Order: sequence, then C-alpha cells, then structure tokens
Amino acid sequence: MTGAEMDEARKAYFNDSAEKWIDLWYRDPETGRQDRHAKDFERLFALMPLKTGDSVLDAGCGTGVLVPYLLDAVGASGTICELDFAPRMIEINRRLHPAANIRFLVADVEQTPLACASCDAAVCFSCFPHFSDKGRAVETLAGILKPQGILIVAHFASSRGINARHKTCAAVRHDHLPDEGAMRKMMETRGFAIEAFIDEEGFYYLQARKKA
Ligand SMILES: C[S@@+](CC[C@H](N)C(=O)[O-])C[C@H]1O[C@@H](n2cnc3c(N)ncnc32)[C@H](O)[C@@H]1O
Repeated sequence: MTGAEMDEARKAYFNDSAEKWIDLWYRDPETGRQDRHAKDFERLFALMPLKTGDSVLDAGCGTGVLVPYLLDAVGASGTICELDFAPRMIEINRRLHPAANIRFLVADVEQTPLACASCDAAVCFSCFPHFSDKGRAVETLAGILKPQGILIVAHFASSRGINARHKTCAAVRHDHLPDEGAMRKMMETRGFAIEAFIDEEGFYYLQARKKA
C-alpha cells in the first residue's frame, strides 16, 4: 500500500466509525452514561492552561468529546475550532454541539486553514499518532498559534498502550506515537519549548509552548 492509499484507508476507517465513536470509547457499559473517562478528563483539563476568552483548535476532534470541557474552559467569549479530516465525524459533531462560538472544519491538520498566529492553544487529543507527516503537522500548528501559544498532545493511555492498541486494528496498524526523545526533538526543532511531559499507564500528556 502506498502512503496515499494508507491515508485514504485511515480516513475511511474514521469516517465509517463516526456513528458509534462515542459509544465505543466513552460510554460506561455499566451506567450507560458517557462518563467512562470522567476522572481522566478532569485531570486533563486541570493540567491544560486554558483561559476564558481563549481561541482553541481541537485538531482531530472526531465527534467532539472535548467540546463540553472546552466550552467550559474558554467561556462564551472564547472560540473553539473543531477540525477533522473525516466529514462524517464533523457532521455528527456539528449536530451535537449547536453553540454559536464553535467553528467546524473538514480539513487535514497538515493544511489547517486557520489564520497565522490566531490561536491560543491547539489540542491533539487521541489523534497525533494518526497524522501521516507529524513534523509537518507540528509545523502547521506552530504557524496558527500565537507567540506563547500552547500545543497539547494527550491520550488516556501510555505511549506503549496506544502503540500496542493500534497494532490490533488493520486501518491504523502503522500509526505510532513516537518516543519521548523523538517528540521532544520534533517540537523543539519547530520552535516549541516542552513544559510538561507525562507518559504513564492510562495517561499521556505533552505540553509545548511556542517561543515568542
Ligand atoms: C482516534 S480518533 C479521536 C477523535 C477524538 N479526538 C476523540 O478522542 O474522540 C482520531 C481522529 O483524528 C482524525 N484525524 C486523523 N488524522 C487526521 C488528519 N491528518 N487531519 C485531521 N484529522 C485527522 C480522525 O478522522 C479521527 O476523527
């Protein structure tokens, strides 16, 4: 399979999974509620330095599991951009989240069509391993962030856990979260300073700040 064919297969997989995405990953089978990771979200949003009025890009947003938390963090004066390359994910996300301060974009993160230096934060939650050219994605995100803006890469699994999980699914079996050294180098060579790095069972969090 060529790289382009792999990209198409990955996009088709996410598009086809959109309808059941939240049930699959976020619904607690016992309670039936969408709060399987409630404590993890609490931890994630306690770490992320978001403020009222911020403009935040949610890259690889899927059906928008972060939206309620992001809205809470940035308030009515802030803005959220939900971006995903799978149209079906965005369609469902838009239907679920009618707030006026959310913009929806079907686009590849490597070509994020936002203005230069327009965002306070870019969040890549549970999606970074799927970006086919990760260096290019980081460079693009550096471009749309304001000086001192932050880039977050987060998962509710360790890098080891994520990489093992992806190997079990044909469409994403080559999608890999690089090790700490490679992630640091990728960020630092593109104008970021790493402020936090956690990679432990059940939780991964990298916070990088764009240098002024
Ligand atoms: C594992 S899902 C996670 C979705 C969402 N963040 C969540 O946690 O529910 C990964 C998402 O990233 C999107 N994605 C993968 N590569 C992308 C790219 N290059 N540009 C934009 N979106 C991408 C997929 O379509 C998919 O919705």
